[in-house]
Amino acid sequence: KSHTDNNIVWHSYSVTKEQRGQQKQQQPCVLWFTGLSGAGKSTVAGALEHKLLALGYHTYLLDGDNVRHGLCKDLGFSDQDRRENIRRIGEVATLMADSGLIVLSAFISPHREERQLVRDLLPQGEFIEVFVDTPLAECEKRDPKGLYKKARAGEIKQFTGIDAEYQPPLQPEIRLAADSYNINELVEQCINALRSRRIIA
Ligand code: PPS
Repeated sequence: KSHTDNNIVWHSYSVTKEQRGQQKQQQPCVLWFTGLSGAGKSTVAGALEHKLLALGYHTYLLDGDNVRHGLCKDLGFSDQDRRENIRRIGEVATLMADSGLIVLSAFISPHREERQLVRDLLPQGEFIEVFVDTPLAECEKRDPKGLYKKARAGEIKQFTGIDAEYQPPLQPEIRLAADSYNINELVEQCINALRSRRIIA
């Protein structure tokens, strides 16, 4: 079929990621939160998204609520399923960043190798690893969903930090000592880091 059927002419120009991102004067990127269950990933990512929104930036938050119930609802917590979980999220986050968004993702993502795979999907400087560094003892003390208790009792198998490994980032772009600061301070630390990286003005 020719390009001029029905008098519709297809133009060959395309909108670039830079143009899509331009409206908000933001540098598209993926803020990849990683840390133990109960470390505060979703809390900090959610609060940071609110702050970015208030500053006028265009964002999207990927977390368990909108991923493990939908895109990844067929996956559990075996090593293999967690790998596939992170692979899918990485691909989606990359597409969203390509559309010009500041993407925040909040998953345990326990393996260095998968986090590296996601980093490698993105252009240089657009993967920003945020280590929510809350000690296991503190996460277990908080135990917001009672899951550590169940894991210790053997009612949940392969629970991260108990009988499944968590590999902390070696050189995260941002490290949050999340048990030593309040939520506003943690958000401020993220905002400052994003400013110094020219993600936001
Ligand atoms: S992963 O490892 O990145 O695929 O995990 P994620 O998608 O972030 O899901 C983690 C949340 O699922 C709950 N949950 C478990 N976590 C760890 N290990 C096991 N076995 C497990 N089973 C269920 C737990 O509530 C995690 O919630 P967060 O928000 O991280 O505290």
